[in-house]
Amino acid sequence: MEISKIIIASDHAGFELKEHLKFTLKDKQINVVDIGTDSTESCNYPIFAKKLCNEVLSNNCFGILICGTGIGMSMTANRFNKIRATLCTSKQMAQLSRQHNNANVLCIGARITGKKDAEEIVNTFLNTDFDTSNKRHKNRIAMFDYITAQK
Ligand code: RB5
Repeated sequence: MEISKIIIASDHAGFELKEHLKFTLKDKQINVVDIGTDSTESCNYPIFAKKLCNEVLSNNCFGILICGTGIGMSMTANRFNKIRATLCTSKQMAQLSRQHNNANVLCIGARITGKKDAEEIVNTFLNTDFDTSNKRHKNRIAMFDYITAQK
């Protein structure tokens, strides 16, 4: 996928890492849109996850969500239809979540993952394509939408 725009958001616990990643991405001439939070003042991560998911869906682009562990952000994001959020702690997870799961939102835990590792995870996520060489990954993703409705 051609990277036209990336939406980024965090809660207070992810604020510092968000600022760091934002500037490294802008350095690479990537169009990053920061939708908050704007400080380390305590806030509620679901609000930012929701805002980001709506932006990702309406712009058909990637998103990056950061909280303390990445868990709350990923739990919230995955409640949105057509959002496939991946909580990654390694480059391999980032790579496979793109290749196999066509993830469109990357979640990172700022209290878990250091700045350099986070940079590598983001770069891998943004530069890995969904594997369309056979239909199995596409078919499995299509199952997300109807499997829960079945008995
Ligand atoms: C905030 O203290 C923390 O709970 C939040 O950033 C996140 O880790 C939740 O999953």
